[in-house]
Amino acid sequence: MAKATAAHEPLPPLLLLLALLAASYLAVTRLPAAAPLSALLLIGHPPLPAPAPGHSDSSSISSCAGFYAGAGPARAVSASVEEFGAVGDGVTSNTAAFRRAVAELEERARDGGGGARLEVPPGRWLTGSFNLTSRFTLFLHRGAVILGSQDPEEWPLIAPLPSYGRGRERLGPRHISLIHGEGLNDVVVTGNNGTIDGQGEMWWELWWNRTLNHTRGHLVELVNSSNILISNITLRNSPFWTVHPVYCSNVVMKDLTILAPLNAPNTDGIDPDSSSEVCIEDCYIESGDDLVAVKSGWDQYGISVGKPSTNIVIQRVSGTTPTCSGVGFGSEMSGGISNVLVRDLHVWNSAQAVRLKTDVGRGGYITNITIANVTMEKVKVPIRFSRGADDHSDDNYDRTALPRISNVLISDIVGVDLQRAPMLEAVAGAVYEGICFRNVSLRGIRRQDRWHCESVYGEAHGVFPAPCEEFRNNGSSSWCGFS
Ligand SMILES: *[C@@H]1O[C@H](CO)[C@@H](O)[C@H](O)[C@H]1NC(C)=O
Ligand SMILES: *[C@@H]1O[C@H](CO)[C@@H](O)[C@H](O)[C@H]1NC(C)=O
Ligand SMILES: *[C@@H]1O[C@H](CO)[C@@H](O)[C@H](O)[C@H]1NC(C)=O
Ligand SMILES: *[C@@H]1O[C@H](CO)[C@@H](O)[C@H](O)[C@H]1NC(C)=O
Ligand SMILES: *[C@@H]1O[C@H](CO)[C@@H](O)[C@H](O)[C@H]1NC(C)=O
Ligand SMILES: *[C@@H]1O[C@H](CO)[C@@H](O)[C@H](O)[C@H]1NC(C)=O
Ligand SMILES: *[C@@H]1O[C@H](CO)[C@@H](O)[C@H](O)[C@H]1NC(C)=O
Ligand SMILES: *[C@@H]1O[C@H](CO)[C@@H](O)[C@H](O)[C@H]1NC(C)=O
Ligand SMILES: *[C@@H]1O[C@H](CO)[C@@H](O)[C@H](O)[C@H]1NC(C)=O
Ligand SMILES: *[C@@H]1O[C@H](CO)[C@@H](O)[C@H](O)[C@H]1NC(C)=O
Repeated sequence: MAKATAAHEPLPPLLLLLALLAASYLAVTRLPAAAPLSALLLIGHPPLPAPAPGHSDSSSISSCAGFYAGAGPARAVSASVEEFGAVGDGVTSNTAAFRRAVAELEERARDGGGGARLEVPPGRWLTGSFNLTSRFTLFLHRGAVILGSQDPEEWPLIAPLPSYGRGRERLGPRHISLIHGEGLNDVVVTGNNGTIDGQGEMWWELWWNRTLNHTRGHLVELVNSSNILISNITLRNSPFWTVHPVYCSNVVMKDLTILAPLNAPNTDGIDPDSSSEVCIEDCYIESGDDLVAVKSGWDQYGISVGKPSTNIVIQRVSGTTPTCSGVGFGSEMSGGISNVLVRDLHVWNSAQAVRLKTDVGRGGYITNITIANVTMEKVKVPIRFSRGADDHSDDNYDRTALPRISNVLISDIVGVDLQRAPMLEAVAGAVYEGICFRNVSLRGIRRQDRWHCESVYGEAHGVFPAPCEEFRNNGSSSWCGFS
């Protein structure tokens, strides 16, 4: 904690909290990574001045190390999927081979406890959905492509998530993800940039044609699991949200390339949902929906499950999404979202760089959020708080359950070729307070356009163009980096 006191300004609450958490977490797990993780959360971060002496090389320590505490990609036992009869011709269905491989490797690793690794060699490996297991690595070699089956029955139906109460798109059960895991510990999906391609077009067409019977599956979903590392792979053409950790903790997603056509519906890149200790870094994402969306359940179902998304770092993400946002919060946020640090985000040709999206009936909160060093080009609305589209799980949502939004620090923002000034609207009946803008330069906004604020209040320091009245109280609260 010495580093904290070395800073010349007091720590904002989020950093202090994250640092304390990091310290206690590391004390428990005794990881050698203690210094890097706490340093990550303290150094080079906006309301702080220059890095503390002796820590000028912040690039080498700004990593997700410490969030994943599993054994890593190497395992005691390993085998190629070919051993289980898989054929990499792009035509043969390998569903049974993948399922057999995971079950058999789990068995072989049982005695040693060192876990197992399934290798996918170069080739085109068509498969339906299969489940992962604990202490397990799925390793995709360069040139390996896992292809999602085109038969909907190969994506069987599973129960909806309790925090959604139904499938997100259709009532009742939902299609399982292509690669799935539930109740697991220590799972790694990695490789030398091999590919998982969901071949989602069939599903997008069902959506466009309004002939979808059940909610589409994700490309990769982990439910109620901990110590997950997904890295060094390319994920393409997911039917629905691409990577979905839900009710998980200690999740690292790094060095990922996520691609979907820019018009492919709901192909979000990474959606941490009711999950904690999540770190996303160095990802390039282009898709038809948010690059990253932090969520926590839907209306009364999310409220009753009450599992927040908390302690999340999202750094060095870049990409484009013409109709959605670089980083989104919500619109499902009924379990609460807190302690999120987004930094070094680069977004272009997109609808928004950052959007907080909620709705009446959501309840929940979004608080202790820091968004720093965002660069954007050709973005329609750089920063947006929006009211959602009256999108509910069913008619039994609580009309008095308003979202609470507070303590949001947005600093060091540079945008060029923009169209609109920030649009900040609270959900009808709610008031959002404690929003701080510092060092924000937004250029290329249409001549007559002004900031648009409705029931959203806070402070602004060094902001161009001039903010709305609601941000001109000349305050200097601690949340905004003042003592
Ligand atoms: C937000 O930060 C404040 C100050 O550190 C802390 O008291 C509060 O518990 C945090 N809120 C949540 C929901 O984590
Ligand atoms: C995979 O896991 C899900 C959820 O735990 C379960 O419903 C499904 O039956 C499993 N599939 C297989 C093939 O074991
Ligand atoms: C979550 O997984 C653990 C095993 O890791 C299991 O004991 C627990 O019952 C699961 N919780 C739920 C809600 O399924
Ligand atoms: C991985 O593959 C993708 C898709 O081909 C490519 O765009 C990306 O640059 C590759 N990443 C690395 C690190 O080679
Ligand atoms: C969707 O409709 C188009 C045009 O009618 C058709 O070509 C396509 O096969 C349909 N897709 C699915 C998956 O039903
Ligand atoms: C949807 O349901 C209809 C009617 O039961 C069925 O004919 C069709 O094959 C189903 N489509 C899919 C993709 O499962
Ligand atoms: C990803 O690949 C790079 C370069 O091949 C390698 O140095 C790094 O260890 C890999 N990272 C992970 C988390 O697998
Ligand atoms: C800001 O983020 C960009 C990536 O978008 C990165 O190249 C740059 O180094 C960051 N600046 C600081 C001061 O960290
Ligand atoms: C304002 O933010 C930009 C972009 O991150 C950064 O380059 C610049 O140093 C910041 N200025 C101050 C005074 O912090
Ligand atoms: C805020 O400060 C500016 C510059 O010092 C001053 O012009 C303005 O009147 C102040 N606004 C309020 C509401 O006090």
